[in-house]
Amino acid sequence: MDEISPALGAIITANNYLHDVATGLMLMSFGAIWLVSRRFHPDSGERAAGLYLSLYGAVTRIAKFSLVWILVGGVPRTIYYTRLEWAPAVGDTQVVAIAIKHVLVFAMVGAGVYYWTIFKKQANRIRQELQG
Ligand code: HEM
Repeated sequence: MDEISPALGAIITANNYLHDVATGLMLMSFGAIWLVSRRFHPDSGERAAGLYLSLYGAVTRIAKFSLVWILVGGVPRTIYYTRLEWAPAVGDTQVVAIAIKHVLVFAMVGAGVYYWTIFKKQANRIRQELQG
C-alpha cells in the first residue's frame, strides 16, 4: 500500500471529520423540521405559517447540503481508509462494522426522506392557504 504525504493525510483526516459533522448536521435538520412540523397547527395564524415556511425552506437547504457533503466526502474517506483509519487490532471485522453502521445510517436517511415528503406536502398546503 502506497504511503501518503502528511499534508494529504491532514486534508483527508479533516474531510473524514467533516463527514461525521455533516452527518450530525443532517440528523439535526431532520429533528428540527420534525419538531417544528409537529408543533405547527393550521389555526396558528399567518405569521406562524410564514415562520414555518421560512424554517422549512432553510432547514431543507441545510439537509440537502449536508447529504451531498456526506456522499462526496465519503468517497475520499473510502479511498484512504486503509491508510489512515484501518485499525490492525480489529482486522477484517471492521469491514463488517462499517457495513452495519452504513446500513443504519442509510435507514435513517431513508426515514428522513420519507418524512420529508410529508413535511413538503404540509408546507405546500400552508403556502397555498397563505396565497389563496
Ligand atoms: C448519508 C449517508 C452516510 C452517512 C449518514 C454516513 C455517516 C458516517 C458516520 C457517522 C461515520 C463514522 C462512523 C464511526 O466513526 O464509527 C462514517 C464513516 C465512514 N463512512 Fe460514511 N456515511 C454515509 C455515506 C457514506 C458513503 C456514500 C461512503 C462511501 C462512498 C461512506 C464512507 C465512509 C467510510 C469509509 C467511513 C469510515 C469507516 C467507519 O468508521 O465506519 N459513507 N460514515
